[in-house]
Parts: sequence; C-alpha cells; structure tokens
Amino acid sequence: MKKALFILSFVSFFVSTASAAAYTKITPGENWLDTDGNFINAHGGCVLYENGYYYLFGENRTVFYSNGISCYKSADLYNWKKLPLAYTVQGVQREDLQDAAPGRLFERPKVMYNKSTGKYVMYTHWEDGNNYSYARVAVFYSDKIEGPYTFYKTYRPNGHDSRDQTTFLDEDGKAYHFCATNMNTDINVALLNEDYLDPSLSETLILNGRSMEAPAITRVGDTYFGIFSGCTGWTPNAVRSAMSGSILGAWTELTNPAIDAKSSTTYDSQSNYILKVNGKENAYVYMGDRWNSHDPGSSKYVWLPLNFRSGYPFINWYDSWDLSIFDNMYRYKRAKSIVAGNTYALLARISNRLFSRDGSNFVVSVDDDDTKNLQFVFEATSTSNLYKLKEVKSGNYLEGGTGGLALNAKNTNITQEWTFSKQANNYYYITNRSRNQALSVDGSSVSNGAGVVLQVKASSMNQLFGVYFDSKSFEYEEDNFFKNTPSTVSSIESVKQDKPGVVIFPSMNNGDFQIRLTNRTGNNPINLKMFDLNGMKVYETIISGDESSSTIQLSNILAKGMYIVNAKSKDFSVNQKFIVK
Ligand code: DGJ
Repeated sequence: MKKALFILSFVSFFVSTASAAAYTKITPGENWLDTDGNFINAHGGCVLYENGYYYLFGENRTVFYSNGISCYKSADLYNWKKLPLAYTVQGVQREDLQDAAPGRLFERPKVMYNKSTGKYVMYTHWEDGNNYSYARVAVFYSDKIEGPYTFYKTYRPNGHDSRDQTTFLDEDGKAYHFCATNMNTDINVALLNEDYLDPSLSETLILNGRSMEAPAITRVGDTYFGIFSGCTGWTPNAVRSAMSGSILGAWTELTNPAIDAKSSTTYDSQSNYILKVNGKENAYVYMGDRWNSHDPGSSKYVWLPLNFRSGYPFINWYDSWDLSIFDNMYRYKRAKSIVAGNTYALLARISNRLFSRDGSNFVVSVDDDDTKNLQFVFEATSTSNLYKLKEVKSGNYLEGGTGGLALNAKNTNITQEWTFSKQANNYYYITNRSRNQALSVDGSSVSNGAGVVLQVKASSMNQLFGVYFDSKSFEYEEDNFFKNTPSTVSSIESVKQDKPGVVIFPSMNNGDFQIRLTNRTGNNPINLKMFDLNGMKVYETIISGDESSSTIQLSNILAKGMYIVNAKSKDFSVNQKFIVK
C-alpha cells in the first residue's frame, strides 16, 4: 500500500512537473491548458503583473452561465496555474440589482491596483442573466491580487448604459473606465474617483457614432491607443483602433491594425485587453477571445504581439510565437531626420512593412528578411530634400523611368532623383523628380508582398513612407515618437495674411488641415516652414510645384498656440499667422 502510494505520488509529481514546463510558446486559437491539464476558463479577461508573476483574470463560465471570475498565475505568460476563483457568485438576487449572485452575468473583468488605498479593484460588465438590457457595471475590491474579491455594488457609470467595458490605469495613478454606451454607438470615458470605485464627473464621449465595443486601452510613451471591435455579437469582425494625446480629449480613429490573412475577422477573435510585457521595452500583447457562440465558456484565446514600430498599432498573425519576438521588433528605428550619406530602409505607413525586392518585383515585405528588405544610401543633390538612392547590395540606384521602378547603374537623369516631402509624424511622400509620381503601395494593399509602384501623387496613406535605420548596423539619431505628445488640435483660425497665396483650413473632421496655394505664377517647388512665436521652426516640408494643395496632419505635430507659416518659392514668398486652438 505504502509502495503504491509512493509510486502514485512519484507519478503525480512527475506529471505536474512535466506539465508545469509544458509550454514554451503561445499558439493562438489552440486549446490552452492550465498546469493541471484543464482548459483555461478565463474569457474577456485581463492580465496584471506583480512581483514576478502575471495574473490572468477572466469570465469563468459553464456554457453561458457565469460561475464568477477566474484567476490564474504564471511566471512566463505561457504556463498558467489555476488559483481559486477571484470571485464566486454568491448571495441572492435582489430587486434593486445590488448583487453578484448566481444567475447574473459577469463579462470582461478588469482589475487595477490602487496604490493609495492598497486595494485591488475589479470592474465587470453586469447583466441580470436574461438579456443585455441592464447594461451596468459590477465593482469589487480585494486586499490581495488573487482575491477573494468583495462585491461593492452595481451601477450605470454616471447614468450611462455600459455594455462592453474596460479600465485603464495611467502612469500618474489616475484610473479610467471605458464603456460602449448609447446602445453601443459611442464610447464613454470616465475618470474614476481616487478610490477607483465610482466614476467622477470628468468624462467624455469619444468615437461618437462609430459603434465600437470590446475596448482595450494602452499607453505607448505619451500617446494613448485603443483597440476595439465592431458590434456583431459573438461573431468576429475587423478590429478597429484609435489614438489620442489626451485620454479625456478627442480620439482619432486609425486603420485596421490586423494586416495578414483573416484581417477582416481579426484572425477570428475579438479584443479584450492589451497586456504590457514586464521587462521588455514597448512589448505589448493583443489579447482576444475566439468566441464559441454556443458555449462561450469553451471559447479559445488569440494572443498576438502588438507592434508600435510605425507609431501606430499593427497585429500580425503568427501560428505560434514566444516573447523573443519582441527582441527584434524594434530593430528598425525611425530616423529623426534624413542625413545625407546615411543608410536607410523605407517603411510603408499603411502596413508597417519594409520596402523590399522579391526577385525582380518591388514589394513591401515581412521584416528582417535581409534577403529582401532594401536599404539605400541617401546621396545628397544640390537641392535639399532631393536624394539619389543607392541600393546597398547591388550598388545600383532607384530609378523611376517610364517603365516603372528599377535599380540601375548611376546616371545623371532626374529619374534617379527623389523628393522627400515631410508629413505628419515624420512620414514622407517620396516623389520622382521627373514626374509627379510617388512611391505607392499598389491598391493600398496591406498584404505581405504587395507591389510598390509609381503612381500619381494623391496624398493618400499608401504613399506615405517612414525613413528607418537598421539599429543592428547603425547608431543614428532616433525619432523617439513614443515620447512625442500629439496635440489634439480641433480648429485652426487664420489671423492675418500678408498677401494672398497660402490658405490654411481644417479638412474633414479628421484632425488634418489643408494648405492651399493660390495665385501661383510658376510651378517651382515651395518650401513651407512653420515657426512658433519664439521663432523656432516647428515644421518644414517641400511641396512640389504643380500641386495646388497639400494635406498636412497638423493635429499630431503642433501644440495649441500661434504660428507663422512661410511659403517660399522662386516666384513668391508669403507669411501667414494662424492660431491652433
Ligand atoms: C459582444 C461582446 O463583446 C461580448 O463580450 C458579449 O457581450 C457578446 N457581445 C454577447 O453577444
């Protein structure tokens, strides 16, 4: 008997030791088992890091029924040990809705630590268990991260219907509640009181009328980013995103961050949280649920690295990945400015992919494929912002001839000269000097291997490229855009115009502004400079001569204040004062 017990405990020790080290990577969408070998049941969740461990909280469901909130613990993000439920449904249902009792529904739990009270605070979406019409939050608190949590109360934040929700704890200790409101039409952001238990009256409706849910918020440097979904119930749709320099201010909607196959269903998932990996710089993980609409409790997880290299969020698909993926994610860094003689790669704004060559085709391609990614030595010409681009491996020059792009031996033709016209957030339009055609990702495709062609310059996103350098080989000055504070400029007012010539006015509600040039007598290039009242140059670009207007995203580069714009060409020079409000 004793011997049998010994063998049994030896076997179970071996099994638990073996399963404890089971995973060395994350495999999105696959069965994910805890260290006891059971399916992880923690949906719509969040992850906190404390003292060497990550804690995963999520909906613990049996089919649709809420058992409460799960808590799992991990040292490595791959292997999760199940702890007792952080909250187990208890008590009785009350008519005043002040309960977290069996039969109620708890979704999208989010936990924050409040340094000043020493309490962990958890928010969940709360419904009565019959339908989604109550649209309340339930708030809980605990002295220990893993719980057990004590139910505090349910409410509608400042009276707003609150369905999909999340919280965000900022670096200054201020905490915010985000929820889909007005029947999932808008997102409400509310600053929470100092104890994090209730909303304050500081709140703002953002992304109005955009019908987003499944919010997940993070901060990268001084910029806030939000990942959302559209509203299609349990069925996945295309992930949405937005950014802001001020959490209670205006948010600007961005493009779909998913760029590989199945981007239209976010790789069959819906966002629930953005996890910041401990000890790695700018390492963020998109956490999503692959819902099983017949049995949400058995839904799977889609966790993927979130890449902010371009200054915007992007999510690539990986069949499996591990944390070492972050070691190379920021290998290519954005150059602060172009310095002649330096070697640069070009990064497509639309897809975060590098300008590359695949056989004889010019494409945008996956990263760090040194066999394909192109690097160019930028050779100065007699005109500023005009360069010859010498491709490093072949020693040939990028040429935009009548037959399209080519790498040819050096010649004196202007087809080998490229104007770099700087736009917001240090992106450039790259136009060929011989024709008003810009490097363009064909068809605005975000796919790997999409062609890069010359197309008439249209000021569209597929024509924006960042100038990046390989930090493995070069130590150039970096544009640390994670530390730039984008301003949220909402209007611009022209104060004085010396003479007609330059008109600046806001365009379509999206934070961009247009500069229009009138009364041109020639078509020489125009050097446009903006100065603040201290005479500091805050912005400069070259507008090619035959353009009558140029769109510039001033909202991301200019703080509120008064500016002077000078537009200078061979045939004229004008100054205009304007106020950014
Ligand atoms: C979509 C939400 O994002 C999920 O959390 C869940 O509430 C489903 N709707 C229910 O249909």
